[in-house]
Amino acid sequence: MSDNGQRPKNNLIILQRGEPVLAQVANPVTDINSEQIKQLITDLKITVAEAKGVGIAAPQVGESLRLFLMCSAPSERYPDAPLLPISVIINPEIRSTSEQQALGWEGCLSVKGKRALVARYTSIDVSYLDEAGTKHNKTLTNFLARIFQHELDHLDGITFIERLNNENDAIDEQQWRETYLT
Ligand code: NI
Repeated sequence: MSDNGQRPKNNLIILQRGEPVLAQVANPVTDINSEQIKQLITDLKITVAEAKGVGIAAPQVGESLRLFLMCSAPSERYPDAPLLPISVIINPEIRSTSEQQALGWEGCLSVKGKRALVARYTSIDVSYLDEAGTKHNKTLTNFLARIFQHELDHLDGITFIERLNNENDAIDEQQWRETYLT
């Protein structure tokens, strides 16, 4: 317990697909400077680092808020990911997209042990607020565009499984590993 009676949370439990909050449309963040939001951002940073994810959305830890982190870095599961500082993305919007989509392998911390090829726009124009409340307008391409679309889906109650033509198109991570990692 700290002096103000708030329990340090930090490493949060990541909910799995099937939990109702992961199927809900999340609410806009109205007070970026609140202690609740600051604590949530701190906790998400620790949680996604420990889980070795490239992104995490607030609903995945049970908070139905339009907020996610992008934390692209190369890893075994995402060897081609660019190394970037963690971005906090609040109240995001996709303003426009490329016509072109591409298939790429995705997994999700809320769909443990599964991978699938998911079609995403290769380029998107986005806007969002960062944790200081500063507005950003950016064009994201390729892997970063993919993370953004995957995480934004979480804010709209969608996991990558719902993006597949057939749920059985998802394969076991172990099978993926044996087939696609050399
Ligand atoms: Ni996910």
